[in-house]
Amino acid sequence: MDLKSILAHELKSQLLSDWSEKDLYDLIETPKHSHLGDLAFPCFQLGKTLKKAPAQIANEFAATMSSPLFSKVAAVGPYVNIHFDGLKAGQEIVSGILEKGKDYGTHTFGENRTVVLDMSSPNIAKPFSMGHLRSTVIGNAIATIAGKCGYTTEKINYIGDWGTQFGKLIVAFKKWGDPEMVKDNPIAELFVLYKKFHEEAENDPSLEEEGRRAFKLLEDGDEEVTELWKWFKDESLEAFKTIYSLLGVEFHSYNGEAFFNDKMEEVVTLLQEQHLLEESQGAQVVRMDDGNLPPCLIKKSDGATLYATRDLAAALYRHRQYAFDEALYIVGQEQTIHFKQVMNVLKKLGYDWANEMKHIPFGLYLKDGKKMSTRKGRVILLEEVLHEAIKMAEENIKQKNPDLKDAYAVARDVGVGAIIFHDLKNDRLNDIDFSLEHMLTFEGETGPYIQYTYARAQSLLRKAGELGPLTFDGLEDAESWEVIKQLRLFPEIIEKAWQQYAPSVIAKYLVDTAQSFNRYYGKTKIILNDNEQNSRLALVHAVGIVLDEGLRLLGMKAPSEM
Ligand code: ARG
Repeated sequence: MDLKSILAHELKSQLLSDWSEKDLYDLIETPKHSHLGDLAFPCFQLGKTLKKAPAQIANEFAATMSSPLFSKVAAVGPYVNIHFDGLKAGQEIVSGILEKGKDYGTHTFGENRTVVLDMSSPNIAKPFSMGHLRSTVIGNAIATIAGKCGYTTEKINYIGDWGTQFGKLIVAFKKWGDPEMVKDNPIAELFVLYKKFHEEAENDPSLEEEGRRAFKLLEDGDEEVTELWKWFKDESLEAFKTIYSLLGVEFHSYNGEAFFNDKMEEVVTLLQEQHLLEESQGAQVVRMDDGNLPPCLIKKSDGATLYATRDLAAALYRHRQYAFDEALYIVGQEQTIHFKQVMNVLKKLGYDWANEMKHIPFGLYLKDGKKMSTRKGRVILLEEVLHEAIKMAEENIKQKNPDLKDAYAVARDVGVGAIIFHDLKNDRLNDIDFSLEHMLTFEGETGPYIQYTYARAQSLLRKAGELGPLTFDGLEDAESWEVIKQLRLFPEIIEKAWQQYAPSVIAKYLVDTAQSFNRYYGKTKIILNDNEQNSRLALVHAVGIVLDEGLRLLGMKAPSEM
């Protein structure tokens, strides 16, 4: 059992039989400073029910509570602080991890609940941007964490395959496009056409009008235009899928914006019926002065629908299709207002489930302090970045371990992992700086550092050879207890990462865990034929379980050798 569960159990059986262990468990805290104790139980809540000062309750509890697993119980103000006996508690914790294996840290509170994640969602005929990379990586990690908490997850790639820009692209292709070139290099070539359209339109405003007309044709189902659009879409999707397979990300659905083309009339009708639509400069809008938001555009004066209209239709569809308990939109923070508008419209329509929709925003990727934008040519092509990272990892590995078998596969896991970890280690709202050298060092707070620590643990276990089953009978030294205390936090860390939709909580935890293991490893000879060797190796194995599972939750691989 983990320490928190042990304490919750002791509190209930010794003092608070009316309480549920779960409620007690949720109250237990980890003190800021470890000299205060391993865990603390705050008595504020009890003060109200028992009508006593919390500090007095803490004193009484400290005097009565005892367990062979506790080395000291002390009241500090309104808290009861518990110090565990390293030897005995350590045995509980490590044995628990070895017994559970990959299931260590699994929760059940999400069972029978469904989370829908709108993630990645790149725009076809445009390069896959670093922003879409962030959405993919953050969304994938949140989905895996949700799964670990028991939720059923649905990852939806809401491809940007509809909108006025396709009118522009079609016009550009017809004027300047070469089918062979598009076939050879679809994303880059279509992007060139798209940029050319904007350059030309600066001198010739009539192009914009032509673009709008072409999009109208597309919306009306014109055969020739639809054919072109479909071709652009297939080519783009194929290119995106190479990236997803490198990243190791899969989706349950690729229903993008165009899928909702025939499902928007319902939204417009509902809005009309409830008298929520107003005309503004020829367009149909929903006013939301009450929410202090700009009006939400539903239909343009020429009848064309908008981004928000499609998101509304998609929300209705998803609620029917998945009966979700939560719907997360992992999209950059520049779209905050858009999502507020969409949710606000749904609430106006009387859908309470709109309260379970959440925009999960994130910051920008910066290059030399500036935004990496697609318009200005400062764009960095993700596929190139991934290959570059893999190449650098390969060179690193060649130096460190020239005889490694399957070096390319390992380099791929390390190179891709470096990019994923670099994204996830910071609070997602922070902007991040793009620096491959930084991402790929084997020291400091990087993906390769965690992977390297894992591989090192595995190599120790390999070196130890056949030892029979590993059992943990307790270790006396202070460093091992630090490692064990770190390992016992894993279940709580997972719960916290889910509650805050923050993979960074797990990334930071992995850095701490790897550091504490490396401190232990630096001080202690693990393989030494004495009567504690088996326990040391058992601890190494437990560390490996936690690092491996932690990396998996972030969407990374853990090579056993590198
Ligand atoms: N394709 C959009 C873009 O690149 C992102 C879509 C986000 N999801 C959504 N449901 N609106 O800006």
